[in-house]
Amino acid sequence: MSLKNWDNKTWLSSKDYISAFNNFLIRHIKLDKNSSILDIGCGRGKILGNITSKLRLIKKPTGIDIEQHKDRDKRIIFYKTDAISFLKRNRKKFDLILLKQTIHFLSLKEIKKLLSLSKNCLNSGGRIAIFTLATSKNEIPTFVKMKKKLNKSLKRDQKILRLINDLYPGGLSKTFSFKVKISRQKYVEMIKNRYISTLLNLSNTEILKGISEINRNYRKRLNFKDKLICLLLKN
Ligand SMILES: C[S@@+](CC[C@H](N)C(=O)[O-])C[C@H]1O[C@@H](n2cnc3c(N)ncnc32)[C@H](O)[C@@H]1O
Repeated sequence: MSLKNWDNKTWLSSKDYISAFNNFLIRHIKLDKNSSILDIGCGRGKILGNITSKLRLIKKPTGIDIEQHKDRDKRIIFYKTDAISFLKRNRKKFDLILLKQTIHFLSLKEIKKLLSLSKNCLNSGGRIAIFTLATSKNEIPTFVKMKKKLNKSLKRDQKILRLINDLYPGGLSKTFSFKVKISRQKYVEMIKNRYISTLLNLSNTEILKGISEINRNYRKRLNFKDKLICLLLKN
């Protein structure tokens, strides 16, 4: 099952979220109108589209994804391809290679390959920015089965982060935090749409059971922080 519903009309696709995310990028990475940017696993490409306007980028940024969305942002150059095959063929250099909530889809072997290929595609002074769900004090509202799956995947994320730190010591670690305010009803819709990869393999019965748990255990308005760890690697 694929993640087509990831940023479909959720806080992740809201102007506020995308703008806050790009402000974070601009605060921590030197970027300007001349920067060339690659987003690996770009989804609908809204983050890239927004940063194109924010920085008045001269060169359209590149987004790649194994999924192709009809409503993809038009301000980007898009290739439907998987990360490693793209990087193997690519001859362009980038100032920023962004991997936002994408790296956990790859095996550890693929991650090693992906990072070494990415390093070769950086301009001098360029950065790789890897964003992944905060592995501790995660506030995402869950039901029991979802929590179990989420904890398991966060454990694997910790392993991924350790691997990256071992391979490329000296990277900088930051936290991006966004305050989410959403109705329980809307959040339940997101769960129905399996918005997060931990929900992809649950059965319909498990999802329905989970939704009644959410309705029982949470108030009508949900307030929580969506926290991401950001690892910045130099070339
Ligand atoms: C959780 S979504 C994140 C989307 C976007 N980066 C964001 O944060 O809004 C993960 C994305 O990675 C894509 N993806 C997964 N494996 C990939 C691969 N091997 N190469 C390229 N994209 C991949 C998925 O199709 C999906 O769009």
